[in-house]
Amino acid sequence: SDLNSDKRHRASDEAQHRPAETLSAHRQLYERNFPLYKQPVEVGFFSLDSHRNFFNDQRKLRYYVEPRQSPDFNLRDGYTNRFVKRDDGVKEKLDHMLKWILANRDKIKTRDQTSSSSSALGVDFVTWRGHLTKVLTTPYETQEGWMLAASKFRGTIYISEVETEAARANRVTRSERQEEMMYWGYKFEQYTCADDVNGTPDPGGVVNTNEAFCTVVQTRLADHKLLFSGEVDCRVRDDAVPAPGCYVELKTSAEICTPKQRSNFHRYKLLKWWAQSFLPGVPQIVAGFRDHDGIVVSIETFQTSKISQLIKNEQNCWKPTVCMNFCNDFLSFVKSVVKEDDPRLVYLLEWEPHRDVTYTVHRDSPFTFLPEWFVKDTRS
Ligand code: A3P
Ligand code: MG
Ligand code: MG
Repeated sequence: SDLNSDKRHRASDEAQHRPAETLSAHRQLYERNFPLYKQPVEVGFFSLDSHRNFFNDQRKLRYYVEPRQSPDFNLRDGYTNRFVKRDDGVKEKLDHMLKWILANRDKIKTRDQTSSSSSALGVDFVTWRGHLTKVLTTPYETQEGWMLAASKFRGTIYISEVETEAARANRVTRSERQEEMMYWGYKFEQYTCADDVNGTPDPGGVVNTNEAFCTVVQTRLADHKLLFSGEVDCRVRDDAVPAPGCYVELKTSAEICTPKQRSNFHRYKLLKWWAQSFLPGVPQIVAGFRDHDGIVVSIETFQTSKISQLIKNEQNCWKPTVCMNFCNDFLSFVKSVVKEDDPRLVYLLEWEPHRDVTYTVHRDSPFTFLPEWFVKDTRS
């Protein structure tokens, strides 16, 4: 079969110590035991203010305030007059994470490391959580491809997303309805979050999507030591719960009225929700289900660790082990490809649905993403 010849091809490449040219994303290849994924440890955090300025602190962390049983949140409120939208045409790449690294390199745990470690930072990969979420869901994705740029610098591989032509086309041709619906998720956050531990939400305020709080976590997937950052919506007020266990992911989704809608929710939405929160160890997801007019009709809490149980009745459903095994093999593939230690060299990894992962190499091109200020100032 095709799958077997794929496997043979890759096995013979490995025997000759030649990196494979491509990586298959066929889900059947990744149905193995769940790989080791260490409990993520928060090693730091940072905040971005209303002008996307970086602060090495928790000033934008908000507190979850549980809504009433039947809330009457109108997610459309404020869209025309109390909304400041982040300019998503500005590509920040890894810059905020790199600023965090420059300010906090001493906070990165090197306990497992021997003096023979081949990287100055003591980690194999630095990236955004959102990029890893896309890798995890790849074996099940049929709509959107991705492009990931990778460069090795002082033994660590940095991975930064490049917008695909299709994604750019979608972004610049979004309908007015789509634009408004993107606001709804942030409006739900405003209804359920307070700025202070003893505060209450302020639905009359401005929604500014420039503002963010990000956690920085360290973990290991099989042989791959990872350092990544992800935006966190809020935390529980109880200060006895340490991060990242205290964090809460907020989501909105269309209300579920039919068995077909429930099945689609399990098959597509819960996969993305699970991948996003599982990676940084965020234990709970609070979902607001809304009608077509943007009114939240019910609230439901999902435990991230129980999502895989919840979907087991769904036939041909996604499996966490496939996601994690694919990610493990993808990172091994990246390590086999990204050999030259040079921040001006970019290995561009590309994937389209129903295709294999492929790559191209670019020197001093517009894909170069590690800035001068990072490669100059980092002390090894
Ligand atoms: P919902 O998640 O309720 O849809 P996040 O949930 O990751 O914290 O993101 C907050 C909101 O940003 C989302 O709310 C959604 O409105 C918007 N958003 C995030 N990722 C998006 C994407 N890929 N495309 C469109 N909107 C997105
Ligand atoms: Mg968020
Ligand atoms: Mg959210």
